[in-house]
Amino acid sequence: MNDLHISAAVRYVGADDTTIDLFESQYPVPNGVSYNAYVILDEKAAVLDTVDRRAAAEWLDRVAEQLAGRKPDYLVLHHLEPDHAGSVGAFLEKYPEAVLVGNAKTFAMLPKYYRYDAARTITVKEGDTLALGSHVLTFVMAPMVHWPEVMVSYESSEKILFSADGFGTFGALSKGRPWIEEAARYYFNIVGKYGAQVQALLKKAAGLDIRTICPLHGPVLREDLGYYIGKYDQWSRYEPEEPDAVLVAYASIHGNTAQAAGKMVDILGAKGCPKVVPVDLCRADQAVAVENAFLCGKMVLLCPTYDGGLFPAMDHFLAHLRDKTYRSRKVCLIENGSWAPAAAKVMRSYLEAMKDITICGDVHTIQGAIKDCDTTAMEQLAEALLS
Ligand code: FEO
Repeated sequence: MNDLHISAAVRYVGADDTTIDLFESQYPVPNGVSYNAYVILDEKAAVLDTVDRRAAAEWLDRVAEQLAGRKPDYLVLHHLEPDHAGSVGAFLEKYPEAVLVGNAKTFAMLPKYYRYDAARTITVKEGDTLALGSHVLTFVMAPMVHWPEVMVSYESSEKILFSADGFGTFGALSKGRPWIEEAARYYFNIVGKYGAQVQALLKKAAGLDIRTICPLHGPVLREDLGYYIGKYDQWSRYEPEEPDAVLVAYASIHGNTAQAAGKMVDILGAKGCPKVVPVDLCRADQAVAVENAFLCGKMVLLCPTYDGGLFPAMDHFLAHLRDKTYRSRKVCLIENGSWAPAAAKVMRSYLEAMKDITICGDVHTIQGAIKDCDTTAMEQLAEALLS
């Protein structure tokens, strides 16, 4: 049996994508991404989700190989985002007799992408079951994890949770990377806005005896499931993994603000900060900056004034944090401006609109290159942040 298969009856039929440039047209995925899909073979045969249309042909071949001449009775649609439902049309062309299984929101949305025979659908709701023989799927609604129509399903005979985007991670399976390597960047940037909805799903899942988690991206999780569930619980409660760690996020036009950021990193280290994470917002993957903002309990922002406001990279970063509902953190602000400094005012306005953000110490204004007076002010800011 292929290593990726879950059991004799539950087969992996997903596809790796190692040539995509940007996942969702915004996230670099140097190790690619997997679009997971599964087949359950019992008295009835069910296909669980499709794949991005980039991998449709490969996926259809894999499904046919596992079906070994059988026709699929059902296509279960846990999530309609095109990285998973992008091959529904190709599937229906090949298997027009198959019955589509989704919830009311699935079938409100599906016609926006595909034509299909509404008579060949089953609409399920919370707690409904689909019996395939000895395998039975029970459906659990998971709205906004991470689209409104998302549902997960629990297969009771083998105790498998098909968790949709939940517990996913970046990285093609063929790359063999550990789940944790990209799980936080994936979580905070894709699902992070919906912490309350993830909490609601975790509460439902707590009532299930789960032995295996089959997500739609990344490795199938079979052991130490408490570790993965614990990560999702902490992340979705917006608790920092490292409360005393400081993210130093900076944008710099000509290098002076970058120099100030470097000085701040040194000062924080000298004052005993256990971990300082510098991120150049103009050059780093913004998704890494967002991930680290959530993992660290504290943050220093440094930005020059530009066109009467923020330099664009900082503006983008703060807009991402606002959209991902960044909250409950301590932050220091440093602006740069050799004439009409205005960056701090805009940074403050972003932060004041967020929940439970404490701005520590006095906002400091650097005028051009850093001088002794700036170092003194940064020492005071570091003390305020670390206290
Ligand atoms: Fe992997 Fe929300 O799609």
